[in-house]
Amino acid sequence: MKNNRNLKLIKTIDGSHSIINNINDEIYHSRFGAVQESQHIFINNGIKICKKNDIKILEIGLGTGLNLILTFINSKKKNVEYHAIEPYPLPKEIIEKINYKKILNIDILDKIHLSSFNKKSVLRSNFNFYKYETKFQDFFSMTKFDIIYYDAFSPRTQPEMWMTSNFKKSFSLLKENGFLVTFCAKGEVKRKLKEVGFNLKHPPGPFGKREITLAYKY
Ligand SMILES: C[S@@+](CC[C@H](N)C(=O)[O-])C[C@H]1O[C@@H](n2cnc3c(N)ncnc32)[C@H](O)[C@@H]1O
Repeated sequence: MKNNRNLKLIKTIDGSHSIINNINDEIYHSRFGAVQESQHIFINNGIKICKKNDIKILEIGLGTGLNLILTFINSKKKNVEYHAIEPYPLPKEIIEKINYKKILNIDILDKIHLSSFNKKSVLRSNFNFYKYETKFQDFFSMTKFDIIYYDAFSPRTQPEMWMTSNFKKSFSLLKENGFLVTFCAKGEVKRKLKEVGFNLKHPPGPFGKREITLAYKY
């Protein structure tokens, strides 16, 4: 993927905004609903199934910050350390127009996007946030994570994100019994995940998608 972008805000079917890149037709969320998709995949099949009280999350592809906002809303009783990677941060003019503040009734979007890279931002006394302006391929961390939100663009538009090397890296960044969750359940992706040692489950997907993938390190 090249960083030549012609970004446009669109309204998805549940009323929440998403972003589309008109040059290559890449969309950040499902057209059936950005919030419904993110809630189903990364919350209901992500943070909510992790029974720990102290959780370290790595998000690959921060984008709008929607997964982070929903995690923040759904983790009031947990201690969360949220790390997010984004090599192509969205421009201010787009962020200002996104309607998550209004529909989710929460005002942390600016804080997420204005926070400095490589530094801790305290979003709540039990919720720390770190972001990195780098590609996942170049990311290095000594931290091990309980959950990886693997939210890259699809294999069709960004095949390099679905290579075995990225899954090997994800596997090594997870703690024992940690897991990766992603919207993608393509046969080739499943095969590569298994090849590096993950055990897979495939819960039903959000509206418009048959199944998703949970890849466990155990
Ligand atoms: C499907 S969108 C993610 C949507 C995002 N989670 C959200 O809720 O808005 C994919 C994201 O991955 C980012 N990305 C592209 N190449 C990447 C790379 N090599 N490493 C990490 N992230 C990448 C894109 O810029 C984009 O923000």
